[in-house]
Amino acid sequence: MRRRVIAGNWKMYKTIADTRAFFSSLLPLVAGEKNCDIIIAPPFTAISTAAEAARGSNVAIGGQNVSWSKEGAFTGEVSASMLLEAGCRYVIIGHSERRQFFHETDDNVAKKSLIAMETGLIPIVCVGETQEQRDSGLTEEVLRRQFIGGPGALTQDEFSRILLAYEPVWAIGTGRTATPEIAAAAHRILRRCAGEKFSVHHASALRILYGGSVKPDNIQGLMAQEELDGALVGGASLDPKSFAALVKAA
Ligand code: 13P
Repeated sequence: MRRRVIAGNWKMYKTIADTRAFFSSLLPLVAGEKNCDIIIAPPFTAISTAAEAARGSNVAIGGQNVSWSKEGAFTGEVSASMLLEAGCRYVIIGHSERRQFFHETDDNVAKKSLIAMETGLIPIVCVGETQEQRDSGLTEEVLRRQFIGGPGALTQDEFSRILLAYEPVWAIGTGRTATPEIAAAAHRILRRCAGEKFSVHHASALRILYGGSVKPDNIQGLMAQEELDGALVGGASLDPKSFAALVKAA
C-alpha cells in the first residue's frame, strides 16, 4: 500500500500574516491525521513563517520552484540549500505554470530534480498535457516525453525518492476536474513509463498525485481510484477548512 499525500500549492497567494493565520486554523483540524503525508508549499517569502508555525506538527513544507544551480549570479533565483535552511522538506518542480509562463523545459526539470535531491529535498515533479494535446490524441506521447526527459533522467536510487504529480493543464484552475477514470488512465501511463525505464518494483512503489481542480466535493471519487496516491491542490488549499476536508478524505 502506497502512503497517500495531500499537498497544497499556494502559488502566488498569501502574505506572511495570512500564512500565520492559515496555520493556526489548520493545525488543530488535522492534528490527529496519521494516514497521509500533508504538505503545504507557500511562496518563498512565507516559507520560514510556515515552517516555524508547522514545527512539531504533521504538516511538512515545500517550495514551489528551485534553481538548477547550487549558487551563483542568478538574479531572482532561490537555491535548494536556501529552501532546506528555510524549513522545506519538499519542492515542486516543473509545474505547468512554470513550463507555460517561464519557459521551463524537461531538461530544467531533470537538473532541478537532481540538485534538489543532492541537497536532501524531495522533488514533486509535475507533468501533464494541454487541452490541445489531449484533443489531438497526444496525451500519452506528451506524458512519455515529459517523463523520459525529466524524472526519467534520474538514477534508480534518486527516482525511488521522488513524488510525481499528474496535472492536466486543462484541469488547473478551471473547475474542470479530470474524471477519476481519465486521471487513473494517465497515472497508468506514467507508471508504465516508470516500469520501462526503471523496474516493476520502482513503478509500483511510485506515488503519483493528481492535480487539477481538486475540491472537497470531488476528492472522494478521485481517491476511490487505486492508481491515485493523493492530490496536489491549488485553489482549495488556500482555505484551512477545505484543505483539512481534503486531508480527511484521503
Ligand atoms: P487548482 O487546484 O487550483 O486547479 O490548481 C492545481 C495545481 O496547479 C496544483 O499545483
